[in-house]
Amino acid sequence: MKFCVTTPIYYINGTPHIGHAYASTAADVLARFNRLDGKCVHFSTGTDEHGIKVARSAENANMDVNFFSDMMSAKFKQMSELMNISYDDFIRTTEARHICAAQKLWSLIEKDIYKSSYTGWYDPRDEVFVAESEIVNGIAPSGGKVEWMEEESYFFKLSDYQDKLLEHYETHPDFIAPTSRRNEIINFVKSGLKDLCISRSKFNWGVPVPNEEGHVMYVWIDALANYLTTFGFPANQVEAENKMANCIHIVGKEILRFHAVYWPAFLMSAGIKLPKRIFAHGWWTCEGQKMSKSVGNVVDPFEIVSKYGVDSLRYFMMREVRFGEDGDFSEDALKKRITYDLANDLGNLVQRVLAFIQKRNGQLHIDYNFSEEYMSLFNNSRNLISRIRELISKQDLSNALNVIWDLVSESNKFVNDIKPWELAKSNDPRLNSVLTVLCESIRAIAFGLASFMPETSTKIFRFMNIRGKSFKEIDDKFIDQIFPQPFPLFPKEK
Ligand code: MSP
Repeated sequence: MKFCVTTPIYYINGTPHIGHAYASTAADVLARFNRLDGKCVHFSTGTDEHGIKVARSAENANMDVNFFSDMMSAKFKQMSELMNISYDDFIRTTEARHICAAQKLWSLIEKDIYKSSYTGWYDPRDEVFVAESEIVNGIAPSGGKVEWMEEESYFFKLSDYQDKLLEHYETHPDFIAPTSRRNEIINFVKSGLKDLCISRSKFNWGVPVPNEEGHVMYVWIDALANYLTTFGFPANQVEAENKMANCIHIVGKEILRFHAVYWPAFLMSAGIKLPKRIFAHGWWTCEGQKMSKSVGNVVDPFEIVSKYGVDSLRYFMMREVRFGEDGDFSEDALKKRITYDLANDLGNLVQRVLAFIQKRNGQLHIDYNFSEEYMSLFNNSRNLISRIRELISKQDLSNALNVIWDLVSESNKFVNDIKPWELAKSNDPRLNSVLTVLCESIRAIAFGLASFMPETSTKIFRFMNIRGKSFKEIDDKFIDQIFPQPFPLFPKEK
């Protein structure tokens, strides 16, 4: 009954943008869904604060690096609040608990570590060592400028893990998702793994290597260890491993290799259980172009939320592209989703049904003895969560929203066909069962939406006197009651 989910921890050299908001929202949807489903959830996010890139950003800002980290990390925390991210733990890699966990991990993998020296290229933008063959005119695949590096370093015997990793991918076909990315990783590992440089000795902004003055851990081993820290390692190793085994790491496609190759190799070496799954999502462009500071087209979630509201942005990001694929952000596309899906479909359904009940003094008279023709909407409402559950268990988030919108459309069509206002005029006794079925469908929709659009769904729960704490409430029958006054969910002027 445990479900753990993590976001990548974000580099603090720049301010949060829509890519960060995206990963956090997706992980949040999974966390919220599983909580409502009765699971014991641990959801972590946080900031990745060490490494040469952050040290230089602090230097450029003329700030002490500790002060700079506090300031920048706070911005990411604010982004989490802005996006309504229901994290249980916000971890910073500069915290004492993390330094302790990272050093313990190092000591557990020590048998696979040896001292040598690294001579080659380094890309500070991605904090990654790059091969000569990947460099074009001094530029790494990330678009960053490479730098020559020559220093004494520790290495991890990654080459010893090639077969063990391939065996794990083979025996755990769901370990890496989506499948296309899984195949890429398998091919990468099959092509041969070189030992990995895991310490730096020419700067000191990092976790000190145990018993070795002058070396700090390579920022990626430090960063990956955050997942153990948040699970209570090393103090509670059994609990931490249990959480790890039930954990899904949500990561962007460009950092999948670190999570699906290096991370499991470190864990295998340390004798710690591996995560359940690593899901790689795609990248957002803006109006068809790669987002970049120099082009000036980086989408700022604070700006978008202040204009359109948090649920609109969450909905757009989760619906517009299939999770795992790349997508394009534009304000036009966002506005269309708000007008058509949110205001015209969802908002209209909720408003027309609940305002209709309100006109009858808010009185809802329940009648579950309805005729065959209402059965389909009733059954689809009652089955909505199990259909979503199936999709959410595969991280198929956009299709989960498609299924909810099918029910929204079916309910709107039901209203158009049955015309409750005409039944009311003729005092037709079927009106009570029509409204009962519609309340069932709106309640199911609100529960389905609760993980994606928590504010909107809470509003609907309030309109209908629903607690909204657990999917189990859907099994309850409505009883006669008075509903409070509803208000439009997505007012037109927005
Ligand atoms: N610090 C590392 C992660 C360590 S996890 C142990 C890192 N940080 S990052 O801030 O550069 O990126 C964090 C996440 O944001 C990555 O998963 C990345 O894919 C995501 N995104 C950054 N730009 C993005 C888009 N334009 N679109 C979607 N997500 C993107 O990497």
